[in-house]
Amino acid sequence: MSKVYVFDHPLIQHKLTYIRDKNTGTKEFRELVDEVATLMAFEITRDMPLEEIEIDTPVMKAKTKVLSGKKMAIVPILRAGIGMVDGILKLIPAAKVGHIGLYRDPETLKPVEYYAKLPADVEERDFIIVDPMLATGGSAVEAINSLKTRGAKSIKFMCLIAAPEGVQAIQEAHPDVDIYIAALDEKLNDHGYIVPGLGDAGDRLFGTK
Ligand code: PRP
Ligand code: URA
Repeated sequence: MSKVYVFDHPLIQHKLTYIRDKNTGTKEFRELVDEVATLMAFEITRDMPLEEIEIDTPVMKAKTKVLSGKKMAIVPILRAGIGMVDGILKLIPAAKVGHIGLYRDPETLKPVEYYAKLPADVEERDFIIVDPMLATGGSAVEAINSLKTRGAKSIKFMCLIAAPEGVQAIQEAHPDVDIYIAALDEKLNDHGYIVPGLGDAGDRLFGTK
């Protein structure tokens, strides 16, 4: 069964409040999503492997630790996932970035894939799929399917706000994929929006609609 981690750090919760607020404009919304993505990246990389090397400090030789060069990839679900990429790359600049394009059919709420481009060495990489919203879970489940079909073996899913329905959908379809969220909200409304949520993440990030 997938584990669910809620990053309830005060800075994340504070910034998320302003992300949710409908009076927050596009520029500030984008900046806050970027900042929260950086803070979440700090938490999600806690288990990154280290190796010991020897260096010369100005005082003496010392054995000390560096990241062991694990290959990582970030995969935003288009469009809204794009808003989280730069914030993560600030901490993991060597990560490759793939893209999965999905939209929710407004009638059926089912995801439709329209684009996929991943790094060539898919099987060797640790993937973090990012999307601000996990609502019905349809998009996330489909994005994970898409990566697995192309050979991905190690996948985490990271989002800002999740509904219980979306968490359950990932857990049922992909019990090997752990879920990292900033807030677990109450439920979905009749239109498949997260309540209380933040509205349409893509529209708020890009100033559309
Ligand atoms: C939003 C959001 C997720 C999806 C979540 O994208 O960014 O990708 O909905 O909903 P689900 O869990 O029910 O699948 P949307 O389809 O609105 O596309 P956009 O990013 O282009 O705005
Ligand atoms: N997609 C969004 O952008 N917001 C929601 O609340 C649900 C899906």
